[in-house]
Amino acid sequence: MISGLQEDGIIEHAGRAGAPDDCVVRKAAMHDIGPILGLINGYAAKGIMLPRTEMEVSEDIRDFSVIVTAGRLVGCGALHFYTPYIGEIRSLAVAEDAKTHGIGRRLIEALVREASSYSLDAVFAFTYVADFFRKMSFEEVERGELPLKAWKDCVRCPKFQCCDEIAVMRVLRPEYCRHFQRDRELEESALVQLPVLRASSPATP
Ligand SMILES: CC(C)(COP(=O)(O)OP(=O)(O)OC[C@H]1O[C@@H](n2cnc3c(N)ncnc32)[C@H](O)[C@@H]1OP(=O)(O)O)[C@@H](O)C(=O)NCCC(=O)NCCS
Repeated sequence: MISGLQEDGIIEHAGRAGAPDDCVVRKAAMHDIGPILGLINGYAAKGIMLPRTEMEVSEDIRDFSVIVTAGRLVGCGALHFYTPYIGEIRSLAVAEDAKTHGIGRRLIEALVREASSYSLDAVFAFTYVADFFRKMSFEEVERGELPLKAWKDCVRCPKFQCCDEIAVMRVLRPEYCRHFQRDRELEESALVQLPVLRASSPATP
């Protein structure tokens, strides 16, 4: 239930059985950066998530939504755009002591709603918790079905050569299939042949 608009975006009370009554989902603000980093990098230290720096989260802060209860940030997640048609849900984390109370679900719902409000056709995620995402109506997909740009973060991942994350996707609008085909064609046509240096033939007089 959307209960009000505030300076930093739509505020929604979680209201789901199990979730604390005063849980509020809202867009992140700069003062959330510290707690967001605490959550993400806590899991990154266990190899569950990619680490983020203060600069990265500052740059991407408009991607983030957070969930707050009793003045404490207990969850975060981000929607990152890749093409006009598809976005990634990433940096999803719920505090250890707040897990299994519906907070992850509320974050996904808020991020999917945001994606729909931008008329995205689909959202995807790379994850170790595919079963959680299945419950959120995502389906497992081949990595090759995702835009090449989605791989840009992978290059700096310690598991780049032996990645065991699962790609999942939730289609929001059936137009996705048509746009996906077009994106693939554009990506293929964007492959640029670099000039090849050849042994130079003796200069003609
Ligand atoms: C994955 C995570 C975000 C889930 O958050 P959460 O608040 O505990 O999840 P919810 O309570 O909203 O669970 C929603 C449903 O998913 C299920 N679920 C939660 N975690 C699950 C998991 N790891 N595996 C399978 N199902 C899971 C719940 O049982 C619940 O099912 P139900 O609706 O049938 O009761 C949280 O466990 C987390 O932060 N994990 C560590 C970081 C991480 O892995 N992030 C994902 C990066 S892509």
